Order: sequence, then C-alpha cells, then structure tokens
Amino acid sequence: MTRPYVIVELISAKAIATRVEELAGEIQATFRNTDKLIIVGLLRGSFVLIADLVRELDMNVEVDFLEVSSYGNEMVSSHEVRILKDLRGEIEGEDVLVVEDIVDTGYTLSHVVRFLQARNPRRLETIALLDKPSRREVDICATWTGFEIPDEFVVGYGIDYAQRNRNLPYIGRVRLADADGKVGNEVAEES
Ligand code: PRP
Repeated sequence: MTRPYVIVELISAKAIATRVEELAGEIQATFRNTDKLIIVGLLRGSFVLIADLVRELDMNVEVDFLEVSSYGNEMVSSHEVRILKDLRGEIEGEDVLVVEDIVDTGYTLSHVVRFLQARNPRRLETIALLDKPSRREVDICATWTGFEIPDEFVVGYGIDYAQRNRNLPYIGRVRLADADGKVGNEVAEES
C-alpha cells in the first residue's frame, strides 16, 4: 500500500534514447578490442536500460542477470545488500559491463563490483542511467552515467515505487499527496 501520488516528468523518453545512443558509442569504443562483452544487468530496475542499450551495441554481447536487493518496498535504503540470484555464466577472464538503473547511496553498486571482481574478470566497467551524487555514502561512481539528478524520488524506465511504474517510458518525479489526497491542485492517483 502506497500513499497516493502523482508523477511529474523529469527526463523524457526522447532524451533518454539520445543519451543511451551516446553512451553505447562510448562503450563500443572502449571495448573495441574485445571478442565478447558480457552485460550483467542488476534486476530488476536495469531491464529497460539493458533492452535499449544492447540494441545500440554493434558488437558481440552476452546478457546475464544478477538479482540483488537493498530496498524491498521501502523508500529508504536498508544498506543491507543481498544477492538473491547469481549469474548463470562464468566471468573469469571476460570483459564485463554491469548495468544499473540508479546509484543512490552507492552501497548496491560497490557491493556488486566487489562481488564480481572476486571472480577475476579481465575488465569490469559499470553504467548507471541515473546518479544522485548528493545521496552518496560510499565512494563509488559508475564508469558511465546517463544523467545526474537531484535528490528526488523517481520512477519509470525500469525504476519502481513499491513495484509500480517500471513501465513508464520516461523518468518521472514522484510527488506524494497531502492528507486531503491532493498534490497542489491535482487529485493524486489511488494505489
Ligand atoms: C535500487 C536500484 C539500485 C539501488 C540503488 O534497487 O535499482 O540497484 O536501489 O541504491 P543504492 O545506491 O542506495 O544502493 P532495489 O533494491 O530497489 O531493487 P530493484 O532494482 O528491484 O528495484
């Protein structure tokens, strides 16, 4: 059960598509000498970025997934990062790109990077669509970032609010309703 809320567009679908195309070009240039790039998506939030990113990469890629959880249905990080589902394939000696939807405190990405580095990939880089640098508690930054955003609660393009709104084609800012169920003059969505 969530409080009623409205979603205000923050980053349009077109802006995301343009940025993903740019980032794919940089990734392709960086990994131009690799035979195979293993894309490791962190479930669940990265699934939309991965789908768009891999279709912009004109190179040999394999896709694998790691499921980690740090937030559950809470809006505040528990800081406890758990591996819920491991990779299907091996990454030792391979070139790996970890794909994340958002870096907030940094606990998730730093834990995942440590976890995967222990398997001795040849090279491991990271990409996150969004970065909230003002929220950082762990000193980590993705190799590539789509957009830096302020400390707003966001949804869409894979990112959820209590498992809702992952399917929005844009990134939206969540505005929670007041006690009357209103956000400004608007009546918020019931949930
Ligand atoms: C969210 C998000 C990132 C992480 C970022 O994951 O997808 O993985 O939090 O936060 P941090 O930098 O503070 O660690 P969540 O656990 O909500 O899972 P989800 O991807 O399934 O939504």
